[in-house]
Amino acid sequence: MSTSNDTTDSTASAGTAASAGSAAPAAAGVTRRRLLGTAGAAGAAGLVAGGAAGSGIAVAAQDRPAPLTGIGTGHIPFEGAHQAGIVEPTQARGHLVAFDLAAGADRAAAAALLRRWSDAVRAMTAAGHPSTPAGYDDQVAGDAGPSSLTVTFGFGRGFFTRTGLTAQLPAALAPLPDFPSDALDPRRSDGDLWVQIGADDALVAFHALRVIQKAARDAAGVRWQMNGFNRTPGATPAPMTGRNLMGQIDGTNNPRPSQPDFARKVFVPASGAPSSGSPAWMAGGSYAVVRRIRMLLDSWDHLSVTAQERVIGRRKSDGAPLSGGTETTAVDLDAFVHGSLAIAGDAHIRVAAPASNSGATMLRRAFSYHDGIGEDGAPDAGLLFVAWQADPMRGFVPVQRKLDGGDGLSRFLRHEASGLFAVPGGAGPGEYVGQRLLEG
Ligand code: HEM
Repeated sequence: MSTSNDTTDSTASAGTAASAGSAAPAAAGVTRRRLLGTAGAAGAAGLVAGGAAGSGIAVAAQDRPAPLTGIGTGHIPFEGAHQAGIVEPTQARGHLVAFDLAAGADRAAAAALLRRWSDAVRAMTAAGHPSTPAGYDDQVAGDAGPSSLTVTFGFGRGFFTRTGLTAQLPAALAPLPDFPSDALDPRRSDGDLWVQIGADDALVAFHALRVIQKAARDAAGVRWQMNGFNRTPGATPAPMTGRNLMGQIDGTNNPRPSQPDFARKVFVPASGAPSSGSPAWMAGGSYAVVRRIRMLLDSWDHLSVTAQERVIGRRKSDGAPLSGGTETTAVDLDAFVHGSLAIAGDAHIRVAAPASNSGATMLRRAFSYHDGIGEDGAPDAGLLFVAWQADPMRGFVPVQRKLDGGDGLSRFLRHEASGLFAVPGGAGPGEYVGQRLLEG
């Protein structure tokens, strides 16, 4: 779920919070204490008078506004060699949305759309106090800082046919194979354009989604949309890898940006890489595989913790591999305990490991989702799984081929929606995302 580099970033945001605290002097502490004091008093009064607590807090907040917290000040630049929202730790809130181009929307209309979207995101992600693009000012995010907002854009296969750009269609965007246990809903799969929104504040994320949808105007319409979440930064006493809705620590063995071959595995090289099926306009880009994976939580919950740990190959409490050590100890797939393989033959981490798949690697950066309780009483919940790689045929595809059926975890999952998107490199100053494709 969360990326392993969460740890790094959480530390960084803790640093930001600390420096924000020192920039906002002792008065801030006083204000916060006053605020708490007032809230406490109001709460106590509320016990007697009922309903007074909320208004007491509002008055105190207006009295002297508290500075942005560490969460609000989180800033991830929109411009760069790669788009934001790939290597950064997953945010607390996420929205995934796919659009189809409107009938008659041509290459020029698509270029204007990507320009509008890029300009809007540039404004909303500005450091300090982000602005809402003119014409979209609903005030929903009006009081908040950027809150680590990222908005990432990708192109599906349909985009190329509709805009007459089939000569630029990456070979790497070939349709994903049909995996035997897939139960895909086509209405919630694919799409001409894909947008991934992440922010550490729910209102900031919602606002970005509204702006993106409004800025599509009549050039594109929403095909499907999904909402996700992760643990909020600061919810744990110390930074740690996140947990998914099965309760496992998830993201430990992700490739890390500090590893020498990280960029080669995740991004199309700057020179373009015809050998990997990517045209030059994809330089610095990546391919996103998106899967809505439902967790069959009621069945899962019937397993003992020991059985759950055997399915994954890691301890539930601290994520340590069953071959021994702590969460970050290298997994030993050959280790034996009491005459049996420590990591079972069908354990998820054995079947998914690069060592079991000729080195195939991807960066997993997911959001959990919960869309309510179904008629059968079971939660419609799971993972909005997003895997990033330089080439899906050397990342997701071989691994999923092996997991499908061969993975003990697959008995507790159902892949319900799927998409594959070409995510171009980041925009430079004044550029829009996809400009090299649309004006190349
Ligand atoms: C809801 C579905 C899934 C859940 C709950 C899940 C859970 C986990 C957990 C708990 C780990 C161990 C911690 C870690 O290293 O991150 C893990 C590892 C991993 N998972 Fe999954 N996973 C899911 C789907 C997938 C899918 C669809 C793929 C790829 C097609 C995948 C690929 C991997 C890989 C490559 C690893 C690291 C293995 C290693 O090298 O140790 N997972 N997953």
